[in-house]
Amino acid sequence: MDPKGQRVKLNDGHFIPVLGLGTAVPPVVPVLIPKSEALEVTKFAIEVGFRHIDCAHVYRNEEQVGQAIQSKIADGTVKRENIFYTSKLWCTFLRPELVRPALEKSLKTLQLDYVDLYIIHFPLAVKPGEELFPKDENGKLISDSVDLCHTWEALEKCKDAGLTKSIGVSNFNHKQLEKILNKPGLKYKPVCNQVECHPYLNQSKLLDFCKSHDIVLVAYGALGSQRIKEWVNLNLPILLEDSVLCAIAKKHKQTPALVVLRYQIQRGVVVLAKSYNKKRINENIQVFDFELTPEDMKAIDGLNRNIRYYEFLIGVGHPEYPFSEEY
Ligand SMILES: NC(=O)c1ccc[n+]([C@@H]2O[C@H](COP(=O)([O-])OP(=O)(O)OC[C@H]3O[C@@H](n4cnc5c(N)ncnc54)[C@H](OP(=O)(O)O)[C@@H]3O)[C@@H](O)[C@H]2O)c1
Repeated sequence: MDPKGQRVKLNDGHFIPVLGLGTAVPPVVPVLIPKSEALEVTKFAIEVGFRHIDCAHVYRNEEQVGQAIQSKIADGTVKRENIFYTSKLWCTFLRPELVRPALEKSLKTLQLDYVDLYIIHFPLAVKPGEELFPKDENGKLISDSVDLCHTWEALEKCKDAGLTKSIGVSNFNHKQLEKILNKPGLKYKPVCNQVECHPYLNQSKLLDFCKSHDIVLVAYGALGSQRIKEWVNLNLPILLEDSVLCAIAKKHKQTPALVVLRYQIQRGVVVLAKSYNKKRINENIQVFDFELTPEDMKAIDGLNRNIRYYEFLIGVGHPEYPFSEEY
């Protein structure tokens, strides 16, 4: 098998490529970065070997990312079955009756018959409607009362209907995962939990929990997040400037970015790497060309300091806000 297509088996029998392209751009950026860039970078990523693409309704670029996939299928670069595409159910659609229409809307935008993975983006149900971030006068999200187990049952039906191959969750803590796993009549377990994960927040407890239930942990923010002031406290240290990571990179004649991506793959984590820069997209796929030693892995494990870049502060106060739990 092409080493660049390295995949792991999910608990429902499907396979997920261990490296994925992140496609999120901050809401302020579309003004500066034309949406057509999502089309260009996704096409380029497929050309250099990316087979897993991570997107979401809330990123507002599924149309361009879908066009890129279509165009790479049309020119013979890939077949649909060799692409692994993830979309996400946004917080305004967690009421069970809104789940399938939300997925169908994404599919229509993407011009695809199915997605490979559909995940609950956040465990936070918020007021349904056109507004993606409905806020109260204090700037907090207006919560909606939805039992996540009912949302999950609607996702199970989407899988049965063939609209998605696999179903999973994102930003769930272990208690929220347990709630789904212990649901009476559970038909399908979540195949994954996509969470922020990097050497400064290595999620070792959540990873152990997920592994013990055959749930794949998918890492976002793996390169230290997009340091956008609307999203991230810019006083937090810059991951890729860490001296330990820089020394390990130097020893292997690689970059700190490749070291942190490789770290995740070697510990059994599926890793996303966002880049809208062709040089860096091309660099990131080189993650399969070297190996970290057990000593390197141990040194990187030692960097954990529970630094969460994406705190999603507008969700604080919501009864399901996930990041107050230890893991
Ligand atoms: N489920 C969720 O709630 C959630 C939350 C956040 C993110 N995500 C997903 O995870 C993806 C990745 O997370 P992220 O957006 O936080 O970004 P990230 O993967 O941590 O990347 C952060 C930044 O690193 C830069 N970069 C990429 N390759 C590099 C390299 N080789 N050397 C140096 N810098 C490099 C990128 O800038 P350039 O573009 O300039 O290269 C990017 O802005 C997202 O795009 C999205 O698909 C999901």
